Amino acid sequence: MKILDLYSKMKGDLNEIEQELIRSASNEQELLNEASLHLVKAGGKRLRPVFVLLSGKFGDYDLQVLKKVAVPLEMIHMSSLVHDDVIDDAGTRRGQVTVNSKWDNRIAMYTGDFIFGKALKIAAELQNPVIHQYLSKAMLQMTIGEMEQIRDFFNTEQNVRHYLLRIRRKTALLIAICCLLGALAANADRNTAFRLYRYGYNVGMAFQIRDDLLDLLGTEKQLGKPPGSDIRQGNITLPVICALRQDGVREPLLKEIEAIRDSNGGADTKRAIELIRSSAGIDEADRLADRFIAKALEALDGVPAIPAKKHLTDIAYFVNKRNY
Ligand code: IPE
Ligand code: IPE
Ligand code: MG
Ligand code: MG
Repeated sequence: MKILDLYSKMKGDLNEIEQELIRSASNEQELLNEASLHLVKAGGKRLRPVFVLLSGKFGDYDLQVLKKVAVPLEMIHMSSLVHDDVIDDAGTRRGQVTVNSKWDNRIAMYTGDFIFGKALKIAAELQNPVIHQYLSKAMLQMTIGEMEQIRDFFNTEQNVRHYLLRIRRKTALLIAICCLLGALAANADRNTAFRLYRYGYNVGMAFQIRDDLLDLLGTEKQLGKPPGSDIRQGNITLPVICALRQDGVREPLLKEIEAIRDSNGGADTKRAIELIRSSAGIDEADRLADRFIAKALEALDGVPAIPAKKHLTDIAYFVNKRNY
């Protein structure tokens, strides 16, 4: 099944999530209201709610309960993106202007904080402390991951292990927790819930590797933002780390990265991107993403054979082939 068919199958429930996101972002402070709604209405794939809902199918599926997990998780994701766009000084996301460029960084920071706070408020309606513990784990690890990314900007000595640890924190754990909490909120059995967690973790790792590849290979139209933003800001991603290990590429690429660093964002990144694109780094990153997808599918092996299992399998393939 194509990913869009899956979305249309889940349309009713996803619509309800969308309404809830709009309701939750709305508030009486005029500027916060405008900026928060701008954020929600800019769209996005809503993958995290999809993971929650599909995982909920392994237990007693109740949209009213699952909503209280899916909405906060999407809001945690959204708020991390507004903050991320401040750090990256990004002008567009999802094909729309970002909050920081439509307003400014201060407004973007508080919009992110507001959305974070709202996420907690909704989750607090659930009486299960385990859910709260995992939600805070997701937020804390994501923040640490983003901080490590800043620390590692322009560090050309970092290795694959550093990279994997960082993306585990900034991206994969949140997706793992979407799957786990969807299952737990629906009272699915623990073995299934933890298999879904492993699935989500591995899909999340592949998802970020893909995102990093797309930033080097995609077009502005596909991405909804200009490509090459990672290298411009000094974010050394997996294909770059791999390219830097290659004789004949390492020296010229190091020079380009140094020039980008010294130019304070003004340098031309074209040559660096060309070098990375023509290096073995692209293939190596590709293969590692494939391995994470294989592990995700392995984790799914042991879960009950309900339609949601097939849908999660389809999403894993989609994540690995996505171009948006
Ligand atoms: C973007 O996530 C940030 C990453 C973790 C790579 P998505 O690609 O899921 O963003 P939206 O929600 O669809 O815009
Ligand atoms: C996503 O990482 C940010 C978080 C996980 C918080 P990226 O920096 O790769 O996301 P994009 O590329 O800006 O969407
Ligand atoms: Mg970013
Ligand atoms: Mg990215």
